[in-house]
Amino acid sequence: MNGPAILVLHGPNLNRLGRRDPAHYGTLTLPELEAKIAGWAAERGARALFFQSNHEGALIDALQHRADEAAGALVNLGALTHTSYALHDALSDFARPVVEVHLSKLAEREPWRQVSVIRPACVAAVDGKGAEGYREALDRLLTAIAERSVPGRGKEA
Ligand code: DQA
Repeated sequence: MNGPAILVLHGPNLNRLGRRDPAHYGTLTLPELEAKIAGWAAERGARALFFQSNHEGALIDALQHRADEAAGALVNLGALTHTSYALHDALSDFARPVVEVHLSKLAEREPWRQVSVIRPACVAAVDGKGAEGYREALDRLLTAIAERSVPGRGKEA
């Protein structure tokens, strides 16, 4: 497949999907969620590259090491979303479109979850739609990638 490669990053505790608080996060396991994302990507001519870690530094390493392969990133950084300036900086440095996605509806949860310190480094954010939110996030990301790659619009890096 020659379409864009999309880096899909899952942060801390997302390896526990399917067992973790299904009222907020649904019943799909992480491999099941990844299979859905891979299918949606393939339908759109794209390819998903997956990485999950419970460690902030490993997520930063993945962004740095895979920047040359990926045209953009879809990120659910779990609770690091609310605290990690280091991930904000790594996403900015990634220099490709990034879309933030969350399974749960953050506005209906604790106040601390309503702050995303990575949001300024993202072109869009989708939350509260469960696994389906990843499809919407993927579409928004592919649109951002396509717009950025159209010559003459001044959006190239
Ligand atoms: C989450 C929301 C975060 O607040 C939480 O820490 C997670 C998952 C979500 O997908 O809804 O781990 O990012």
